[in-house]
Amino acid sequence: MNQVIYIMGVSGCGKSTIGNLLSEALKIPFFDGDDFHPEANVAKMSKGIPLNDEDRFGWLQTLNELGKKQVENNSCVIVCSGLKQMYRDILSKGIESKSMWVYLSGSFNQIEERVNKRSGHFMSSALLQSQFDTLEEPINALQLDISLKPEEIVKKIVKELDMKSEFGLFGLGVMGKSLSRNLAQKGFNISIFNREVKGSEENIAIDFKNAHSELEKSQPFSNVEAFVNSLQIPRRIMLMVNAGKITDMVIDDLIPYLSDGDILIDGGNSNYLKTKERYDYLKSKNINFIGVGVSGGEEGALKGPSIMPGGNKETYELVKPYLEGIAAKDTNGLPCCTYVGEEGSGHFVKMVHNGIEYVEMQLLAEVYTIFNTMGRNPDEIANILESWKSDVDSYLLGITVDILRKKDGDDWLVNKIVDKAGNKGTGNWTTIATAQLGAPSTLIASALFARYTSFYKEERCNANEKFGISPSELNLNSDDVLNAYQFGRIINHYQGLKLISEAGKAYSWTLNLSEIARIWTNGCIIKSDFAEALIPVLKEDDNILTNPSIISQLKELKPSINKVVAECILRELPVACLSESVNFLNAYTTSNSSANIIQAQRDYFGAHTYQRIDDLSGDFHHTNWN
Ligand code: 6PG
Repeated sequence: MNQVIYIMGVSGCGKSTIGNLLSEALKIPFFDGDDFHPEANVAKMSKGIPLNDEDRFGWLQTLNELGKKQVENNSCVIVCSGLKQMYRDILSKGIESKSMWVYLSGSFNQIEERVNKRSGHFMSSALLQSQFDTLEEPINALQLDISLKPEEIVKKIVKELDMKSEFGLFGLGVMGKSLSRNLAQKGFNISIFNREVKGSEENIAIDFKNAHSELEKSQPFSNVEAFVNSLQIPRRIMLMVNAGKITDMVIDDLIPYLSDGDILIDGGNSNYLKTKERYDYLKSKNINFIGVGVSGGEEGALKGPSIMPGGNKETYELVKPYLEGIAAKDTNGLPCCTYVGEEGSGHFVKMVHNGIEYVEMQLLAEVYTIFNTMGRNPDEIANILESWKSDVDSYLLGITVDILRKKDGDDWLVNKIVDKAGNKGTGNWTTIATAQLGAPSTLIASALFARYTSFYKEERCNANEKFGISPSELNLNSDDVLNAYQFGRIINHYQGLKLISEAGKAYSWTLNLSEIARIWTNGCIIKSDFAEALIPVLKEDDNILTNPSIISQLKELKPSINKVVAECILRELPVACLSESVNFLNAYTTSNSSANIIQAQRDYFGAHTYQRIDDLSGDFHHTNWN
């Protein structure tokens, strides 16, 4: 990757000498910032008047433009005192991740002595002191002591550039391996790490590197310190480890070797509240933290996942080229990765993605059970679902078709799979969040509880005998089932997006739901044609149920879902998400609900008070009910 190497430090630290030597060593252009001052600044300086911030802004912007232009074709060296962070922010604006900072540091006495030795140069102690007073030391620079010989300094910079990787991947599980290969295929120089456990996990990183030609230039490690030291500063390390306690343990293992300004990226399915805690914890240690939701499974991670990053926007800019570089692309060729928002918002959005995923899976399972009860075999069901692709295509629909067609001996494999659905916790967290935020994502809860109910296999079998409930022949046509499925999916997406929108308000995250739908159009497990259709809808309103086209679709689909759910209930076939979706819309569209009774009951036993429809002041009333 092309880089702008900014060499900074107080006047007299030797920036120009180092810059010139470095540009010769690397055969890249050299620019001395002092040559780019506007006339007004030159006039001021020649009168001995120091420049103020305002004088500097235009000049810094010119240097930033120069860097931006140069980096399009080649790396370059720009020398500029860059004493304040604010100045450096201007210099690297828009090229944050492509800016490398070299800070030449020395003590006041060292520099004073050195400057005054130079023939024709004299700097007053007061002037030098004012430089030191202004200096805000950079936290993410390669700091080099000016007492070293210039050749040695240049050697160190070259070594840093040559030998050091730009990105580190920690944890070579299924996802970590695929992401490493994806990064390497995109041309990034990476270091990869996996721990060494004698007897069970040996030589993982080196064997993995050797097994894949694209990893030829990557550096494999099993020692944390060596891994960290192999990375360019600021270090960018993506953690691909099991979410939970392991993430904290790994962070604590890394901290002793990290420097101020380094960046940790958590790519696991971490709880968004933990992400905020980790962000604060690492901030107290001057380490940046980005919580990143990654969806797409093993294949997505390799070919292009959907990536949902959250945290500090400036930190995101420093990792953007890597994350956006490896992400899937949408229909316009844009990366399915966008800065989601502050704190744990990236992991929150990924969590809700998984909640929506649970419902999409459950709806397909319900469709399967309906057709199965109607006597269709898996191949026939696959054919029906295949024919739906033109109306409701999605990744999950596609894989369900493949699953239904898979044979195992004379039978279909699905017929041999135990009907107990597992989970790793993200559906559980989404259901907790939905309750905590008071945003009723009832389908996600239903899908989760359907999995939990499935787990009571033994009890279900016993109850089946005792209650004698068994679904009988259903009288439905496949178009009605398709319509019901589509209806359920619309309510699912409404509820999931509403939950994200409510979280945005509760946590003061600035979220763009249309962008979130866009990054769900490719790479992720819930990618679908519907996600694509939601992009313009969400530009108008976060609530998709206010959209005229969605309203008319639901109205059209409603008779079918009424019929399908009613028939399933009459024939005693459980369809948790389909029935919840229609129940939810019935409740959502009720202007006068039964909640008046709840309020009266609350007031009766607990004097919780209620509001009256004939009192527009909104005052609360209490009645002595008996
Ligand atoms: C993805 C998936 C992925 C994984 C989840 C689901 O987006 O790539 O959501 O994160 O499949 O862990 O897990 P459970 O169904 O086991 O809860």
